[in-house]
This record gives sequence, C-alpha cells and structure tokens, in this order.
Amino acid sequence: MNVLVAGGAGYIGSHAVKMLLEAGHRVAVVDNLFRGHGEAVDRRASFHEIDLAETHPLADVLAREKIDCVMHFAALAYVGESVADPLAYYENNTAGTISLLQAMNTAGVKRLVFSSTAAVYGEPETTPIPETARLEPVNPYGWSKRCVEQILHDCAASDRDFSFVSLRYFNVAGAAADGSLGEDHDPETHLIPILLLAALGRREKVTLFGNDYPTPDGTCIRDYIHVEDLCAAHLSAMNALRLGERRFYNLGIGKGYSVNEVVELARRVTGRKIPVEYGPRREGDPAVLLADASKIRSELGWTPRYADLDAIIATAWKWFKAHPGGYET
Ligand SMILES: NC(=O)c1ccc[n+]([C@@H]2O[C@H](COP(=O)([O-])OP(=O)(O)OC[C@H]3O[C@@H](n4cnc5c(N)ncnc54)[C@H](O)[C@@H]3O)[C@@H](O)[C@H]2O)c1
Repeated sequence: MNVLVAGGAGYIGSHAVKMLLEAGHRVAVVDNLFRGHGEAVDRRASFHEIDLAETHPLADVLAREKIDCVMHFAALAYVGESVADPLAYYENNTAGTISLLQAMNTAGVKRLVFSSTAAVYGEPETTPIPETARLEPVNPYGWSKRCVEQILHDCAASDRDFSFVSLRYFNVAGAAADGSLGEDHDPETHLIPILLLAALGRREKVTLFGNDYPTPDGTCIRDYIHVEDLCAAHLSAMNALRLGERRFYNLGIGKGYSVNEVVELARRVTGRKIPVEYGPRREGDPAVLLADASKIRSELGWTPRYADLDAIIATAWKWFKAHPGGYET
C-alpha cells in the first residue's frame, strides 16, 4: 500500500515509518518538525515539511503519492501544556485533523488510522478499561482527541466508503530493538526517558508526582506498551480495515506498574543510581490506568512481543546510551 504518515518524524511515527517500509509499503511522511526530528525519518520514505493546517499542499501530496491510507500521529501530546494553552491543542490536534480530513476528501483517500489516547476516558469507572467505557476526558489534550473521534464518526456516517480505526494508546515506551530509533522529546515529560536521562547524569534528580494515591505503594499505576508492538498493531489494523468500517481499539499490555516499580526497574536495568524525590500530585492524573486490550487481541490476533517492562526499558536504555543528547548525538 502507499501510506502517508503524518507526524512521521516524531517518536512513534518514526518507528511506524520504519516498520511500514520493512513490510514492503511505500511511505510518504508529513511533519512540521515542531517536535520531530528529520534524522528520525527513514531515508527510503519521501519527506514533506508541511503543517496539518496546510490543506492544499497536503491534498497535493496525497494525490501525487497516490496514497491509499493515512496513519495520523501528528499532535501535541502534553497534558500540562494543554491545560495551560487549550486553544493551541484544539487548533493543532482538532482543527489540524479537520484540515487533514479535508485534504483526504479532496484527494479521495478513504482510510485513516488515528492515534487516540487513554486520556479520552478521563477518570476511569472500571479497571482495566474496555473500549465501551464512558468517554469523559479531564483535560484539553484528551478532549482534543475525543473531538476528533466524534468527527471521524460523523465523517463515516456521511460517506459510506470512509473508514477509520482509532487506536487508544496507554503509555508508550521503549525504542527500536536494533537501536536505530528512540525517544527524543524537548521538553521530555515521560517517566522512563526522564529516569534514563538521570541514569546518564543528564538530570540531577527526578521528581515523582504524588505518593499518596490509593494504590499499594501510593504511586500511580500505568500500563506500558513497547513502541514496536504498538506500531505492529497499526499495521494489523490498517490491513484489516475494510471500506466503510469504523473500529476502536485500546492498546496496552494490561499489566500495571507503579511509578516506584518503574524507578526500581530502571535502576536494575541500567545498574546506575537514579536519585528521586516526591512532589505533589499532578492535576488530572488518575491513580490507575490499565487497558483491557482483549478486543484487538481477539479481533486482529495482535499479541505484544514485550510482556515485561524491564525488557521494554532495556531497549530504551540501549538507545539512550548511544544517543545521550538525543538525535543530535
Ligand atoms: N507517547 C505516548 O505515550 C502517547 C500516548 C497516547 C497517545 N499518543 C499519541 O501518539 C501520537 C504520537 O505521539 P509521539 O509521542 O510520537 O509524539 P511526538 O511529539 O514525538 O510526535 C508527533 C509528531 O507530530 C508532528 N506534528 C505535531 N503537530 C503537527 C502539525 N500541526 N503538522 C505537522 N506535524 C505535526 C511533530 O513535529 C512530531 O514530529 C500523538 O498523536 C499522541 O497524542 C502518544
């Protein structure tokens, strides 16, 4: 297939580009490089430095590259930033996706694989969370994605051929097993890269947000999925998607690790000291977020290769040791 990867210079998108190419697909990447890295884009893909808001140039690329399917990773994805600047999130993530959908419409592209998030659920009523759980985001980031899911529904209702799959990721972690790609965000807000940067001595200490949650050790519990398992699910979803279908799947491994457990695993994997301190809770952080990912397992036969967090952290550590300053090293 000819696949356009929006946000293909970012952490997850760059891994997806590599996997698509290795599976024999032709890939075009669109990214504005606001948070991405040109170095992360596989040279076998064509690259277009375009913002999602640029509908006409996007439509041109879609038509010229004869795109069959779009994988859409391009978004701003920091909860705290979204609380401070909600309009930037609705503009980039929601309006940006509308522009992409308009471009797809113009170019006659009918398939979309969308990066959604566990943040669409907000404070969960049940755990693990099934796809049928109530959707009540608790921050503008989650709402910006929730709005897109609604828009996709409406587009599918008005166009019988339009088809989409919305993948609701829990916490994504790790790096390409061959060491070629990794996670390089500025600012970095994800726990595992922050711990590994501290292990490398590039951060003095790590502040952990809250140790008074109603969990066994008082810290939040999260579900970590390896970035390559996540990308493999995208390929399965894309291949399974028939014209006119709408699908929603959770993506996690259904196993929870507390923040304290993640710190201990990072110390064990790296063999280094990682100084930590406890700060206050962060607003909008649910105590436990665990995916019920049984639907994608049973419908698409997806099975994660990484079932344990230490193996996931080991892949990230391999990349960080080789790239202590990120892609610039
Ligand atoms: N990383 C996670 O744990 C996680 C969890 C849940 C959902 N997600 C979602 O997965 C997707 C990818 O996340 P990531 O961690 O790889 O983020 P990232 O910031 O590394 O990648 C996003 C990429 O999109 C690009 N981009 C952003 N806005 C754009 C625009 N308007 N036009 C063109 N390019 C634009 C950025 O430059 C960047 O390269 C996002 O949609 C995010 O919401 C990520």
